[in-house]
Formats: sequence, C-alpha cells, structure tokens
Amino acid sequence: MKPNEISDIVNSDKSHVWHHLSQHKPMQETGPMMIVEGKGMRVKDINGREYLDAVSGGVWTVNVGYGRESIANAVRDQLTKMCYFANSAGSIPGAQFAEKLINKMPGLNRVYYSNSGSEANEKGFKLVRQLSHMKNDGKKHKIIYRDRDYHGTTITALSATGQAQRKDQYGPYTPGFVEMPHCLAYRSPNGGDSDFGVQAAGELEKIILREGPDTVGSVCLEPITAGGGVIVPPEGYFETIQEICTKYGVLIHIDEVVCGMGRTGKWFGYQHFGVKPDIVTMAKGVASGYAAISVTATTEDLFKEFLADPSDKMGYFRDISTFGGCTAGPAAALENMRIIEEENLLDNVTKMGHYTLDRLHELQQKHPIIGDVRGKGLFLGADLVKDPKTREPVDESVAAAIAADCLKQGVMIGRTNRSLNDYNNTLCLSPALICTKDDIDEIITAIDNAITNLPS
Ligand SMILES: Cc1ncc(COP(=O)(O)O)c(C=O)c1O
Repeated sequence: MKPNEISDIVNSDKSHVWHHLSQHKPMQETGPMMIVEGKGMRVKDINGREYLDAVSGGVWTVNVGYGRESIANAVRDQLTKMCYFANSAGSIPGAQFAEKLINKMPGLNRVYYSNSGSEANEKGFKLVRQLSHMKNDGKKHKIIYRDRDYHGTTITALSATGQAQRKDQYGPYTPGFVEMPHCLAYRSPNGGDSDFGVQAAGELEKIILREGPDTVGSVCLEPITAGGGVIVPPEGYFETIQEICTKYGVLIHIDEVVCGMGRTGKWFGYQHFGVKPDIVTMAKGVASGYAAISVTATTEDLFKEFLADPSDKMGYFRDISTFGGCTAGPAAALENMRIIEEENLLDNVTKMGHYTLDRLHELQQKHPIIGDVRGKGLFLGADLVKDPKTREPVDESVAAAIAADCLKQGVMIGRTNRSLNDYNNTLCLSPALICTKDDIDEIITAIDNAITNLPS
C-alpha cells in the first residue's frame, strides 16, 4: 500500500472506530495497531511489520492459524449456494457440523447455533430458567458461577462473571446469580492441602445448602479459567462438582468458549476431568475466527424436557438468534474440524504444550518474578509476583510492560487485562494449534528478554 493510502485508512479508523477493551486517549496519539495479513502463526500490520502471534488473534481464537484457503473456499462455496435462512429451518452445513460435533462429545446430543460466546451462554441460562418455570414455578432458577471465571459481555453473562473490574459500572445485574470461590491453589490459603481440589469444589455444596437446593438450577464453570488467570482445576475438583450436582439435581453448564476445539489437547477441556455436563457452550475456536459461530450443546434428556405437547403453547424453547442461521459458520466449522483431524493437531497441542510448560518452568528458575506457571495444552499462564515468598502480585503495568516489550521484539503475547482487582498479573500464551518448537522458542526468548529489560 502507498503511504497516503495507509494514512487515509489509519485516519478513518482513528476518527470513527470505537475499539474493544481500549482506552482511546493514548490511541489518539499512537493510532491503532492495524493487522492486515496473516499466514500460519504470523501476522503483518499495515506498515508491513511481521509478528509471531502467541495469542491466536489476541483472544485465543484462530486455532488452525491464518490464511487457510480451504476454509475460505468452503465458506465461499456455501455462501454462493445458500447464505442464510433463519435457523427455524435447517441447513446442510448446520446438520453436518452438528453430527460431527456430537461425535466428539459422548453424552451430548443437541446443537443450538448462535454467534458469540456470550450468546451461547445466555442460551444455557435461558434453558435453566425456562426449565425451572416449566417444572417448579420458576423456583429452581438460581445459577452459580465462580470467582475469576468470565462468561461474556452481555449484562446477564456479566452477571455470571466473577471478575470485578469487568463488571464494575455496568450494573445493576440480573438477579439469581450466586458466586462460589475460585479453585486456584496458588492463591488460596489452603491451596497446599492434598485434598484442596475436593475442598474447593465442596464450596459449591455449602452454597447450594445456603441458597436452598430447591432454588439452584445450574452451575456454570469454565473447565480451565481463561482470562481470570489460566487456572487448571486441582485434582478431584470436577469429580466432586459432579457428585454434588447429582446429589442436588443441579445441571452442569461448562463454558468451553476458550478451551473448546482442541486448545487443551482434547476436543474439549472438560474431557480431561471426567465430568458429565448437561450443557456445553463453545465459540472462539469452533471456526477459528473464519466465520462467527457459537454453539450451545445439550444432552438429549435436557432437550426432551422441551418436547411438550404442541397444544402447550409455551412449553418449547422460544428463543432465536438471527445470525444463528448464517451458513458460513457451520461451513467454516466443518472444514476447521477436518483440518484439526487431518493434521493431527490434538497431538501437536499435547506435545507443544508440554514443551512450552517446560520452557516456562526454565524461565521461572531464571526470573523470580515468575511465581507460578500453569496450563494445559497450548493454553498457558505465568503468574507474576513481586516476591516469590510473599506471592504478592505485580502491578498490572508490569505485565503490560512485558507484553509491550515482546511486541517490540515482534512477538504478541497476552496478559490478564483489567479483569480482577489486584490480580491482572498473569502473562497468557495461546498460540495456534499448529505451532512448532521454533515458534515456542521465539516466544520464550522474547519473554526472557522482556523480563530482563524490566527496570530493577
Ligand atoms: C470463557 C469465555 N466465555 C465466554 C466468552 C464470551 O465470548 P464472546 O466474546 O464471543 O461473546 C469469553 C470471551 O473471551 C470467554 O473467555
């Protein structure tokens, strides 16, 4: 592009685009970063500068990497044949993707399409609320969520979110959402106990008993907390959650918006932990960002609750998502899944995930600022501290400085960002499922340099 064309575009953006999660004042000076090309693990900005992307499109989305012509072709072929019809009717890719997806999720059987993670979660909440109205006059309507988890940007998804800074100033919130404690051993007073996982999950039972078991409809959990600091649940955690939910007739809603579609080395994060969800939501990696699609998957038992006699005018799921009828989403998702299978990407995630974790542990030996390293597959975090003994978190500005230095070196890494009070101190890595050892080495070298460059 010619310099004057570049400056026209940058000026149009600066004048008119309101960017996500961004303080615009500094951007008025610097201009936005504009990413205009991508291939594999790498992207280029509008000035031609190349970056290695260790965060799959910023927010753990582009699982199969950039520039996949076969996905673009699948979408083009589908759109020229049939672009859209409301999903009260069926579509060919919608039916085919549902079948393929359900094959990866034993125990689940129904697929409801919409187009963002927040929306998929809202569907899960609406199912629980309506079921409660159909079965017990709306009493079993409460939904329990967990401190540090995030479930989306809409008011009700935020009502189910355990991140104070994400929620601040957007209330009042939807009633009937109740918080349980997080399960991060490193930041829990009894995190060192051998049965910490059972203890942390046991908090759910206390809350169910406090609220009244006949009032609690579901618990909504990320399998591995993402933006709240990359928290892998401790041993025994999900088994205990399962036992408690079975005991009190509470549905389990697992939010796979980040972990779904291979990110952790299995198709879904929950599949590491032997839990049997009733509702599973997913979005980001489902079509790797090539088209917008989200899914709320349920068991057949839950679906059957909504199979009322047609003379009951209200006893079915009266919900719609206009763009849940776009065929580009399932067409892209089918090809995305084919790529993950054909290229054995789940194996690559497991291998590269172990390698990255080892390299992060090496960095931890070298730099005491890294207090804790955690993650599964290609979904990893480094918890930064002022002093490893006290575990006091660094200020958010330190994590921001490390990420900014990596960017200067041509590597994009992530960090927890204006989410939690005091704990926006985790560096986050989520490279595409195709990454190689060389890519990981480049990422680790950049972080190593950036930490070394911090003022002492
Ligand atoms: C775990 C989780 N759930 C839900 C969402 C919301 O997804 P969306 O931004 O597509 O609405 C996100 C977004 O980051 C997420 O991380």
